[in-house]
Amino acid sequence: MDNELHNHTYVVTGATSGIGLAAAEILVRRGAGVIGVGRSAERCKAVEAHLHHIHPDAPVHYLVADLSLQKNIHQVADEILNQLAGTGKPVLDGLLNNAGTFTYWMILTAEGIEMQWAVNHLAPFLLTHRLIPALQAAPLARVVTVSSGSHRHGWINWNDPQLRRCYNGLRAYGNTKLANILFTLEFNRRLGTGSAIRAFAANPGLVKTDIGMKGNPAIAGLVWKLRRSGGIPAEESARGIVYLLTEPSIQESTEVYWKHGIPQHASRRALDPAAATRLWVLSEKMCGLDGGNRHDAA
Ligand SMILES: NC(=O)c1ccc[n+]([C@@H]2O[C@H](COP(=O)([O-])OP(=O)(O)OC[C@H]3O[C@@H](n4cnc5c(N)ncnc54)[C@H](OP(=O)(O)O)[C@@H]3O)[C@@H](O)[C@H]2O)c1
Repeated sequence: MDNELHNHTYVVTGATSGIGLAAAEILVRRGAGVIGVGRSAERCKAVEAHLHHIHPDAPVHYLVADLSLQKNIHQVADEILNQLAGTGKPVLDGLLNNAGTFTYWMILTAEGIEMQWAVNHLAPFLLTHRLIPALQAAPLARVVTVSSGSHRHGWINWNDPQLRRCYNGLRAYGNTKLANILFTLEFNRRLGTGSAIRAFAANPGLVKTDIGMKGNPAIAGLVWKLRRSGGIPAEESARGIVYLLTEPSIQESTEVYWKHGIPQHASRRALDPAAATRLWVLSEKMCGLDGGNRHDAA
């Protein structure tokens, strides 16, 4: 246990299990303040107590939000900004967009958006936008979005980005993980050189978590259980992600996609600047950030 990240604050989404929980544990062990976001009040409370136990002096606070709904993202963003303001230092050193889901069947959120598109892509997009003022106040800030090697199976059909006409859960997942890299690429482009904020997309590798088993048919859960048996522990994966979140020496790096703290080749589609801009504009519309009507967007 050390205190090298004392006075640093990070927001971690999906911080109640798997990679997000492991990342929160590493940050807390290093003395950082962590604002965790989870969808279950019960799990948030239990994990908050667990992290306090790891490092009683590290400021840890969990907020409950189902990130599939944009109204909740706005609410939790307000809570985060208020909490930071309450410390007298409204500064955020990093945002880890980790929360993610896999849904075998097409599920629409209460706001009418396909679930994986909503949680895995639009939530990071909107939450990042809302937290920019606090990130900009830090001397060096990071936005790390957890993508996946599955982005290589992604191919966004601009006429049907949510795959409403012909849904396939794995393809939808791959599309959202492709969107994570395109978002990162375009975000850095828009920030420009010299910005205090740098964004990275992380491939966590194959990790032994329960992601494929949550809310999916038994057969899909079984397939994931077999697949993940060849994976690495969440703690091991989280080390590379926390590196992206905290390592000062990579602030100027132009590498977008990393695995275990090492730059990786992303697919050609993930590094397409025209697609990145197109996705950004679409996402702005879908999140109502362009002043229009979100539901008309896609
Ligand atoms: N495991 C892998 O091999 C692997 C590989 C590539 C990429 N990834 C990516 O890694 C990230 C973390 O996944 P994981 O493997 O650690 O799985 P996980 O253990 O299921 O963690 C996912 C986290 O996201 C949260 N979450 C899911 N839906 C949410 C929602 N609607 N609102 C708020 N939070 C929500 C979960 O909450 P609960 O705790 O309440 O379930 C959990 O904390 C995801 O983005 C995933 O796509 C994982």
